[in-house]
Amino acid sequence: MDALLSPGRFGDIEVPNRVVMAPMTRSRATVAGDATELMAAHYGARATAGLIVTEGIAPSEVGKGYCRTPVLDGPQRLDGWRRVTDAVHAGGGRIVAQAMHCGRVAHAANKAPGVETVAPSAIRAEGDMYTDAEGMQPFDDPRALTTDEVRSVVDEYRRFAALAMDAGFDGVEVHGTSGYLPAQFLCTGTNLRTDTYGGTVEGRIRFPVEVLEAVAGEIGAGRTGLRICPGNPFNDLVDERPGDVEETFRALLTAIRPLGLAWLHVIRRHEGTPGLVLDNLAMARELHDGMLIANDSYDGSSADAAIAAGECGAVSFARHFLANPDLVDRFGAGTALERFDARTLYTPGPEGYTVNLAR
Ligand SMILES: Cc1cc2nc3c(=O)[nH]c(=O)nc-3n(C[C@H](O)[C@H](O)[C@H](O)COP(=O)(O)O)c2cc1C
Repeated sequence: MDALLSPGRFGDIEVPNRVVMAPMTRSRATVAGDATELMAAHYGARATAGLIVTEGIAPSEVGKGYCRTPVLDGPQRLDGWRRVTDAVHAGGGRIVAQAMHCGRVAHAANKAPGVETVAPSAIRAEGDMYTDAEGMQPFDDPRALTTDEVRSVVDEYRRFAALAMDAGFDGVEVHGTSGYLPAQFLCTGTNLRTDTYGGTVEGRIRFPVEVLEAVAGEIGAGRTGLRICPGNPFNDLVDERPGDVEETFRALLTAIRPLGLAWLHVIRRHEGTPGLVLDNLAMARELHDGMLIANDSYDGSSADAAIAAGECGAVSFARHFLANPDLVDRFGAGTALERFDARTLYTPGPEGYTVNLAR
């Protein structure tokens, strides 16, 4: 485990090992979207990770899609998050906030009363989502953002980044995959806009590029990262031609390269897009100069081997961190890993979150 457990650097953030805790939505915020003591205990218990990426946090009420997920949209939210960052720092760790605007992947019952659902184009995502109040419900019909509103959403990400630093986070990761708002702009099937934020590949990448410029401009590129999974069809993302995926992501990574982002967080798999042959990690190595975090279905040995072979600089683990808060120590000692309990992934309360972690 020498490579995995060796020190490294994510831009301005120095880390004692290359084990990253991947972002995981766990729905333990308050109904109103505030961070809780329980969340502080959960993240604090994982402070030995080289870097923790939080669950997705909405930069505005409109950007919230799921029940009991957190929002960071103003100073009234800071106390909750300070408890989280304090707990991680007290344990000697580092934690960055993942900015996740859900766009059309949302339901009104999961939002504050009267808050709408928006998207690049007025196209409903196929499928259902869970709500506390009404059980499974079809996704909302989104309203298409006007050009000026798109610029306002870019500003929400800027405000998010500033608030994240006030809350004591070490940086910000922009969630650019899994069918949420930046991914909705990137895909040809979800972005039918004819203004400057659509139409051509330059148009489709403009929103995520402006978001990253705004975040990096606010807190520094050395504390800014991006998460991608080219070709991931999750939440009904569609590209008309498989070739669109590679063209889009090459254009995006080329456009943001001069920013010098601290890390690019790449999910290596993209099963589900028929006809697509694309090595996400190879493309990222070619077009990104900072730290490359690889993700998806690694264990300690395969992660160590990938870093030793130069495939990536760090590896993130999601599911292994659920029942193994001490994952880094277990990797070091070669201890067997506990299996998580899938029944408590999104349930309220401590069960499966801070207590009774293993199945
Ligand atoms: C319960 C759960 C919640 C997740 N929530 C998020 C999220 O909020 N943001 C995100 O980028 N990925 C999210 N993911 C995806 C994980 O970060 C990761 O990409 C995936 O689980 C594969 O990594 P693994 O094989 O190490 O588990 C979530 C995964 C799980 C299991």
